[in-house]
Amino acid sequence: MQRLILFLALFITASFAVPAPQSDDSKAETTRLESENNGVDKYSFAYETSNGISRSEEGELKGGGAEGEGNISVQGTTSWTAPDGKKYELSFTADETGYHPTFKLVA
Ligand SMILES: *[C@@H]1O[C@H](CO)[C@@H](O)[C@H](O)[C@H]1NC(C)=O
Repeated sequence: MQRLILFLALFITASFAVPAPQSDDSKAETTRLESENNGVDKYSFAYETSNGISRSEEGELKGGGAEGEGNISVQGTTSWTAPDGKKYELSFTADETGYHPTFKLVA
């Protein structure tokens, strides 16, 4: 009888120790999608997913002139909730001076 009680106590403790299942990212859906492109010198897009990812970016051709040569200046942000339950955000700018990311813990 004592063995049975010990077994049950271990079983119950073990079942509470099992972590809750993570959300299934493979079933995530796009909940918002916007995209613009003027076909010449500007674009932007933004989207969000049901599993908490959001992403946006905009770019612009600067100093193009008549030859269509110039430098593209881009800025963007993406954020997501990691398996540790915390929300992270990566922002960046990219232009002729390089790629400049900023990474931070949001919440
Ligand atoms: C693009 O960037 C390069 C490198 O900094 C620079 O030499 C060039 O003048 C830029 N072009 C324009 C059109 O601003």
